[in-house]
Amino acid sequence: MQQEIPGGREEPGQHLWQRLPPNPLAELRQVAEERERAGQVLRRLEIGEPNFRTPQHIVAAAIASLQQEAQTYGPSGGWPWLRELLAEKIRRVNGYEVSAANIGVTVGGTGAVQLALLATVGPGDEVLLPDPGWPHYYRQLAIAGAKPVPYPLDPASGWLPDLRELERRVNARTRLLIVNSPGNPTGAVFPRELIAALLDFARRHRLLLLSDECYDELVFEGEHVSPATLLTATERERGTFIGVYSFSKTYAMTGWRIGYLVAGQVLMRSLSQVLDASYTSLPLATQRAAAAALQGPQDCVAQMRAAYRRRRDQAIALLKRYGRYEYTPHGAFYILVNIARKSGDGHRARPARSDGSAREQATAFALELLRRRNVLVVPGNLFGSSTVDYVRVSLGADEETIEEGLSSICELCEEGKAHAPGVGEAREHSEESG
Ligand SMILES: Cc1ncc(COP(=O)(O)O)c(C=O)c1O
Repeated sequence: MQQEIPGGREEPGQHLWQRLPPNPLAELRQVAEERERAGQVLRRLEIGEPNFRTPQHIVAAAIASLQQEAQTYGPSGGWPWLRELLAEKIRRVNGYEVSAANIGVTVGGTGAVQLALLATVGPGDEVLLPDPGWPHYYRQLAIAGAKPVPYPLDPASGWLPDLRELERRVNARTRLLIVNSPGNPTGAVFPRELIAALLDFARRHRLLLLSDECYDELVFEGEHVSPATLLTATERERGTFIGVYSFSKTYAMTGWRIGYLVAGQVLMRSLSQVLDASYTSLPLATQRAAAAALQGPQDCVAQMRAAYRRRRDQAIALLKRYGRYEYTPHGAFYILVNIARKSGDGHRARPARSDGSAREQATAFALELLRRRNVLVVPGNLFGSSTVDYVRVSLGADEETIEEGLSSICELCEEGKAHAPGVGEAREHSEESG
């Protein structure tokens, strides 16, 4: 596409924004806003965000900072007192040793992933990423100019990767492997032996490993295994590992926009360059809030985790009642619901269709769910090609919303089955019936 450039020159569309895939939720959100403006009350199960308020002692620390301290620029990697506390958190929660110099404070986990990609990959590089996976990986790879190569997670194993699928996709251009456990959108927690096998795979193919651990403190059963615990100190220092962390989910701090990354010394040098050039530093008050979160009582984390677990159990019980239970998420706060098959139907592959209608099916279902039931979820096709038959439900919402929303999903599935073999296909853009 030719693009008119101010100044009279015509050039091929090379601007960054033109390479970005559109925000996949935009259409649904637009319909949702129209409905809200029309006075409808929506049940919002699409947002990956806790419905809890940030604990008061964290808020108080930010207020005190704003009142008592000059809000100056700070060191680009974060204030040393915060980085010391973060090193302690990594030791306490993630179980490995790291020094403050190996930590960079970022604009959320989002900023950490973006910096990591900008500092390590570019045009010509390929990056292995989970399918289904967090949609931002695709958009951020587009910014870095590298090629996404999705590797499937298998619903039959509770959404774990199969190493043979990774081996099939790796080649001389592959530079980085993204691992996300506990995972979005699956809630899967990778067992220790799988993490070890993934590390071994990365070592054999000389890949960098980006471990997105934004949900590290939201594990219900089993353990969260940070891949870095299985590396030698020399391997960590040599710099093949980047760990990504966030305050957003652990402390209900999504809007504060603070996260951090951990990397070996060599990688840290390039990461710091990108970090410094990107946004200089985060607000001091935000960093004080993060410090208070780490230093204060941790029972708020335990309470929120217990609430997500109760909601997870509630969702599973409901799905079982409707015959739509498929797997148990062991972490994070999401559950994938199969809209095309019931529990006993197995995991038969959907016949491939050349017109892309399978990909659109979940979106059509989500639109119909919104128009007819006022329930908003994320269609599975936005997370990759493994989840075209699913929608993602966030358990960040309250119990009543989850109950009503999930029931609506299951009931709409039943109605769809009565009309056509593929839910939503024959009903796309159908008129509202109440
Ligand atoms: C897998 C994953 N990584 C990273 C993030 C980034 O979150 P934040 O930028 O709020 O820390 C999210 C947010 O939803 C996520 O799901």
